[in-house]
Amino acid sequence: IRTIGILTSGGDAPGMNAAIRAVVRSAIYYGCKVYGINRGYKGLIEEDLVEMNLSSVGDIIHRGGTILKSSRCEEFKTEEGRLQGVKILKKHNIDSLVIIGGDGSFIGAQKLSELGFPAIGIPGTIDNDLPYTDYTIGFDTAMNTIIDAIGKIRDTSSSHERVNIIEVMGRHCGDLALYAGLAGGAETIIVPEVDIKIDEICTKLKTTQKRGKRHSIIVLAEGVGNASDLGKEIIKKTSADLRITVLGHVQRGGSPTAFDRILASRMGARAVDLLLDGKSARVVGIKDNKIIDLEINEALSKTRSFDKDTYEMVKVLSI
Ligand code: F6P
Repeated sequence: IRTIGILTSGGDAPGMNAAIRAVVRSAIYYGCKVYGINRGYKGLIEEDLVEMNLSSVGDIIHRGGTILKSSRCEEFKTEEGRLQGVKILKKHNIDSLVIIGGDGSFIGAQKLSELGFPAIGIPGTIDNDLPYTDYTIGFDTAMNTIIDAIGKIRDTSSSHERVNIIEVMGRHCGDLALYAGLAGGAETIIVPEVDIKIDEICTKLKTTQKRGKRHSIIVLAEGVGNASDLGKEIIKKTSADLRITVLGHVQRGGSPTAFDRILASRMGARAVDLLLDGKSARVVGIKDNKIIDLEINEALSKTRSFDKDTYEMVKVLSI
């Protein structure tokens, strides 16, 4: 009988629970035992794990966060920490591991595989910053949270004829800002992938004001800088009545969208299939709506291409 361990690592993302459910249910369906490891790699090193059954994952498909909890673990970045992790896995007869997380968590999976321990990665992060997959679990939900916030801010922005800057997450990736900005009808979107000068932003504000559009939404990706610094710059150059909103961790929570639940379920099931096929050191993704898997090394070595066409199109639509 095979025994699979599962953990969530790094920043949590809506849909992680749906992925845990898929892994646990399909593993049990195929006759495996499953251990849930709490608090990511940190919990692994500290031997914080529990055997899971079908009902451990009942009533969680719609919940945000992760029932297994998550953490970022410095100790696991050391060889010593990883060897301790493997020792604990072996002690519980766990013969393979599914890791749900972002690129940092995948490096942990890669290192475990190098130590001969089978590991499979599932992409769970709101940032959508993993180049090998079209979508990561949690991105769609976070994007919808942002759109909801933009809509609300738009109401008051319009009433008071203000400029509102909304700072969104995404680390070094501009996807959340780009697609939420597009769907929310933002006038200006600022992302790390495209260089934009403050003067360009101010000129646009002035020209749109001249033609009677008196309020404006600017979506700023956190990877560019902070909203308060940008706001000060804009006020200096335009004397706009300006307010800022940093959306923060509200973007990380909430019930996952249908898209994220379905994506997570498909990816979780594939991860178990891979382990049952004797595969290791692979990550699951989605390309053109097909679930794919590839070597962790290959996945991590890819460089991300930003959707410049959509970015340019937004400029046209927000004239
Ligand atoms: O990677 C997910 C993410 O939410 C990023 O968008 C953000 O920069 C970071 O995590 C915040 O991390 P923390 O929750 O540790 O403050």
